[in-house]
Amino acid sequence: MNLDLKDKKVFISGSTKGIGFETAKLFLEEGSTVIINGRTKKGVERALNKLNNKNVSGISADFLDNAQIEELIKKIPDDIDIIINNVGIFRGKDFYSETIKDWQDHFEVNLISGVKLSKHFLPNMLKKNWGRILFISSECSSLVPGDLLKL
Ligand SMILES: NC(=O)c1ccc[n+]([C@@H]2O[C@H](COP(=O)([O-])OP(=O)(O)OC[C@H]3O[C@@H](n4cnc5c(N)ncnc54)[C@H](OP(=O)(O)O)[C@@H]3O)[C@@H](O)[C@H]2O)c1
Repeated sequence: MNLDLKDKKVFISGSTKGIGFETAKLFLEEGSTVIINGRTKKGVERALNKLNNKNVSGISADFLDNAQIEELIKKIPDDIDIIINNVGIFRGKDFYSETIKDWQDHFEVNLISGVKLSKHFLPNMLKKNWGRILFISSECSSLVPGDLLKL
């Protein structure tokens, strides 16, 4: 498949596993240059070894730690073409067990991480008149499964 993504520079948050990792594979197949991310150097190294492709590199940063996010932003090239805000956590506790800190962490990682990256990289995308920012969400927001409703 040719999706016209050859040589595009792509950053994918939370991509050492799961949907982010599979997305990285697809971009690499399309000839893009990809930066993957996870919380630890070890996790990133493991994923890079699995991908085994000269066009992929990685940056470890925990989206719960603002200092690490700032460092991450400095390491992503300013001319990045595509940002995939994929990182997401789900602690799966019932409503009464879930603490306010849990709620804050979910908002920080699942939503605010993408806002921070978008605020930083969108102006340059607009200047060069090309760029894409995608947010990975969940159909659970509209089709709520029973096990998410436990009280
Ligand atoms: N899986 C589903 O059924 C499903 C359904 C609907 C929507 N989604 C959404 O799709 C996205 C990906 O989900 P997934 O199931 O593929 O995730 P996953 O398999 O749990 O993978 C999570 C990824 O995020 C990284 N990560 C976790 N916490 C992080 C943090 N604080 N900072 C930086 N990286 C962090 C992990 O890296 P390390 O472990 O290496 O740190 C890993 O690469 C999420 O936004 C999720 O809400 C998933």
